[in-house]
Amino acid sequence: RNAHLTLDPAFTVGPVPHRLFGSFVEHMGRCVYTGIYEPGHAAADDRGFRTDVLQMVRELGPTVVRYPGGNFVSGFDWEDSVGPRAERPRRIDRAWRSVETNQFGLAEFDEWAREVGTETMMAVNLGTRGLQDACNLLEYTNHAGGTKYSDLRIAHGTKDPLDIKLWCLGNEMDGPWQVGHKTAHEYARLAAETGRAMRLIDPDIELVACGSSSRAMPTFGSWESTVLEECYDVVDYVSCHAYYEESEGDVGSFLASAVDMDAFIEEVVATADAVRARGKHRKRINISFDEWNVWYISRPHHDPSAKPWDVAPRVIEDEYSVTDAVVVGTLLNSLLRHGDRVTIGCQAQLVNVIGLLRSEPDGPAWKQTIAHPFEQVRHLAKGEILQVQASGDRYESAKYGDAEIVDAAATHDPETGTVTLFLANRDLEQPARVEVGLRGFGAERVVSATTLHAGEDQDRHTTNNQANPTAVQPRPLADVELTGGTATVVLPPLSWSVVQFA
Ligand code: AHR
Repeated sequence: RNAHLTLDPAFTVGPVPHRLFGSFVEHMGRCVYTGIYEPGHAAADDRGFRTDVLQMVRELGPTVVRYPGGNFVSGFDWEDSVGPRAERPRRIDRAWRSVETNQFGLAEFDEWAREVGTETMMAVNLGTRGLQDACNLLEYTNHAGGTKYSDLRIAHGTKDPLDIKLWCLGNEMDGPWQVGHKTAHEYARLAAETGRAMRLIDPDIELVACGSSSRAMPTFGSWESTVLEECYDVVDYVSCHAYYEESEGDVGSFLASAVDMDAFIEEVVATADAVRARGKHRKRINISFDEWNVWYISRPHHDPSAKPWDVAPRVIEDEYSVTDAVVVGTLLNSLLRHGDRVTIGCQAQLVNVIGLLRSEPDGPAWKQTIAHPFEQVRHLAKGEILQVQASGDRYESAKYGDAEIVDAAATHDPETGTVTLFLANRDLEQPARVEVGLRGFGAERVVSATTLHAGEDQDRHTTNNQANPTAVQPRPLADVELTGGTATVVLPPLSWSVVQFA
């Protein structure tokens, strides 16, 4: 297999958006309880935060974390989650058929996020609640004091405002599964008026309108159009959500998932820009891709042995393989390729629930295979995103059509001169020889080169798990050369590689 890539420092997509490498903590399954929070665990600190998980989250370095849902938020009364713990009610969570104890809430999340060093992206409930409750919450979090809800925060022990900048106007309101699901018109009016009222309290907030829950939604396209016609002046972003899985043995389509993500992004950009043109607006609406991942959604959601209405049941604790890690790498590449318009990204979710990390109650924590590409791109994509001029072998995928064998994205850090390539080889059997034209960068050496693939005694289904938590991880890639401005990299079959030159 062969691919040829040409890069030039003058041809850029734009700067790497800081918020592109976010994640998501939902009150769902064991993401919060026995995920990030487990009082009584040997590694818990005095606030109940699991420090083993905290340490791994710091290593991953999510730049923004969306909270508290997800489908959960559409039935959530935020007031239940603040104030003295002993007085917080246990509530039914209709979205995930479980019991929410509210022992971890707004203030605890804010403290945890500060410990991690990440920004909070807060979602308001536009399913069962509306404008006034969203405004009350914003007054509680962002208003200095001297009013009912800001004084309530102070009475709860948090003197300074939490100063949350990023707000989602509901979650997946186009989905019939959503508690309080709405038509595009119903949602558009509610989101516009809620956003407008919130801005009257804090004009500095940034607002995300719900887009489509997937590109396959029957309302995809018309939903974005209707919502943005109504909300264009009020919001800054429209959201995209996408989950991919290998189904019916069609690994070729699964590996081409980023082809679908590329198209999804480009179609939403086109729709937003069409509304811009029709409305003669000046600003551009960007995309907040605030839920994306591999999710084996067609498998049952719950552990069938779990009782209904449990606290923190085991829900969608997918165990990720080598193949899944390669696909996650290509999804990160897709976000990077569109970094001029996708300026927020949240991988879903952080721990246990389709998690980057896994943790066991009273047990260990470990990084899933998919954590590795996330961590690498988060830390190594620096400076400017480069346009990648690519040619080479391709294949036809059943679901998404034409796909390149080698999926690529690249960045250039003008400060250090480092060029970083993110490369996936989608061929299951054969290595791929990639030639990279780097003239113009003055690169003289290979700084680092790693690859993640099935090693000895492993195959593409190999996972990291409690028994073997580090089975799959990036290892040194030897087959890299740089001569006279041209690099040659040989990628192992079905692999995710990161190579840096300077
Ligand atoms: O991330 C899991 C769920 O997927 C979220 O709650 C919801 O928004 C989406 O459907």
